[in-house]
Amino acid sequence: GTSLTILGIESSCDDTAAAVLRVEDGLPSILSSVVHGQAELHEAYGGVVPEIAARAHAEKLDICVKKALTQANVTLSALDAVAVTAGPGLIGGVLSGVMCAKGITVATGLPLIGVNHLAGHALTPRLTDLIAYPYLMLLVSGGHCQFLIVHGCEEFTRLGGTIDDAPGEAFDKTARLLGLPQPGGPHVEQEAKQGDPTRFRFPRPLLDRPGCDMSFSGLKTALLRARDTLIAAQGGLTRRDRADLCAGFQAAVADVLAEKTRRALGVYLAEAPPMPMFAVAGGVAANSAIRASLETVCAAEGAGFVAPPLALCTDNAAMIAYAGAELFAAGHRDDLTLAARPRWPL
Ligand code: KG4
Ligand code: ZN
Repeated sequence: GTSLTILGIESSCDDTAAAVLRVEDGLPSILSSVVHGQAELHEAYGGVVPEIAARAHAEKLDICVKKALTQANVTLSALDAVAVTAGPGLIGGVLSGVMCAKGITVATGLPLIGVNHLAGHALTPRLTDLIAYPYLMLLVSGGHCQFLIVHGCEEFTRLGGTIDDAPGEAFDKTARLLGLPQPGGPHVEQEAKQGDPTRFRFPRPLLDRPGCDMSFSGLKTALLRARDTLIAAQGGLTRRDRADLCAGFQAAVADVLAEKTRRALGVYLAEAPPMPMFAVAGGVAANSAIRASLETVCAAEGAGFVAPPLALCTDNAAMIAYAGAELFAAGHRDDLTLAARPRWPL
């Protein structure tokens, strides 16, 4: 049998991560996955500060790599390759990761593989659920929102995506407007559980248009307006108001994602895939109401539904190692000319 042990490195946003993955006869297993978040460093600024993120990555990368190797109980000499996120993302962070990976490959002579962060997310359902190509994917996070038909580790068809904000960003802004902590998604979801989703009827933008494009910036404006109307009338927000606003907001996001998923499935299913599968990934996939509404659409349209475990839905290095392993098997190699790319569409 064949066996490949690969180190993955991720530092494109606000998580510093390293992981060791082994693929034995095509079966992946995560030997370690270390994620060092920076949330508390950025908390006071209400968003990720690129300069602070880059510095924190530079400080923590070596430590995360060492931890990942120790937890996996492997030494550098047991590795077959090093995979690193080479973009897209905040350039200072991506550069830190790429420099770290290059350093390791120079010292060891191991092959270097630059991985697109989005490909890492997009291939995660193969790592967690071993699903076959082609499958339809919704990548929905704080920075991304797009539908992809995944044909292979380097072959993606983009069907549409957000034309403005990503839903996670909208969740975060909603939380900020309502005085909830960051990152906002989980807090808005908690509030929404106690709320009435019908009290505020927020817009469902672009549902009247054909295609799979989405828009979420109008939603945030509508929420701001509803909040300010309440504050002007009563001098503040009650707990009930806050819960109802969150519930109305979340229902609008879920409706838009569900309807656009139904359309994307139509395009994908027209290709007559032998084993129709839909997968969702990205931080917003952690939202159980959104997961449930997507699962309902898949059941109705006749596609299987996969949602990787939360720890692998959000940024991590196991997904980068896995994408690196597929690229490695496909013969892909990089060298010291590998560039860090702030923009890198799939
Ligand atoms: O994938 P991710 O960890 O980072 C990137 O954006 O790449 O996603 C983070 C985003 C944040 O905006 C966060 O608020 C959102 O995912 N999120 C959620 C939930 N958990 C995290 N959004 C809605 N509901 C959740 N339960
Ligand atoms: Zn991500």
